[in-house]
Amino acid sequence: MKVLGLVGSPRKKGNTEIMVDTFLEGAASAGAEVIKYFLADLDINQCQGCFRNCMLQPGFKCKRFRDDMDTLLPEMAASDLLLFASPLYCATYTAIMARFFERCLPLWEVEIVGELGTMDAFRFISNGLKGKQAVVGMVQDFKDPQSAELAFQAFERNIARTYMMQIVEKIHVTDVRDIGDIKKKTEELKKVFASGKKLASAG
Ligand SMILES: Cc1cc2nc3c(=O)[nH]c(=O)nc-3n(C[C@H](O)[C@H](O)[C@H](O)COP(=O)(O)O)c2cc1C
Repeated sequence: MKVLGLVGSPRKKGNTEIMVDTFLEGAASAGAEVIKYFLADLDINQCQGCFRNCMLQPGFKCKRFRDDMDTLLPEMAASDLLLFASPLYCATYTAIMARFFERCLPLWEVEIVGELGTMDAFRFISNGLKGKQAVVGMVQDFKDPQSAELAFQAFERNIARTYMMQIVEKIHVTDVRDIGDIKKKTEELKKVFASGKKLASAG
């Protein structure tokens, strides 16, 4: 089994990265091949909104940019389990994660069969992530978990609806603000490790 973890925080060794590392350590302990991407480190250009072009050709390639998405998209399509993790920023996931999602459209392959601007415009041929397992990870400062509702909805829309993955787990750690605060949450981190181990074992 191949497990891929995506870190959507700008902070190195911050709470999100520690969460992702712990999950991947759990998965590795069950024999999985694991790979982590720190999205802020990658060369990911801002989507320019040409929209259809990237979906009208096979091969998971944006027409406009040759950048690290050329590596990342095939890696995602070759993985069995994907962890999407971000800190809560201004009630949703980070702009880093949003920029990345905007560049995921080439995972779709479609043909135009109807009037553009309508739901009948496209016939969906394939989607490189369909049916794969996904985990959503979120860390936040506020104690009230409800404050991340919008962020979870946005993750679900993208991961489950747009890319038709199966969200098998949501990991949510509240009340962590400064770099490394999550290390004090030993019980939560044990659960994160166990979750990575369990999901990798099941595959
Ligand atoms: C610009 C910005 C916006 C934030 N917005 C929220 C928020 O809306 N709710 C919240 O609970 N925490 C918010 N936080 C706090 C982070 O979610 C928290 O510090 C988190 O632990 C950071 O994770 P990291 O260490 O992986 O970067 C915000 C932090 C920043 C820098």
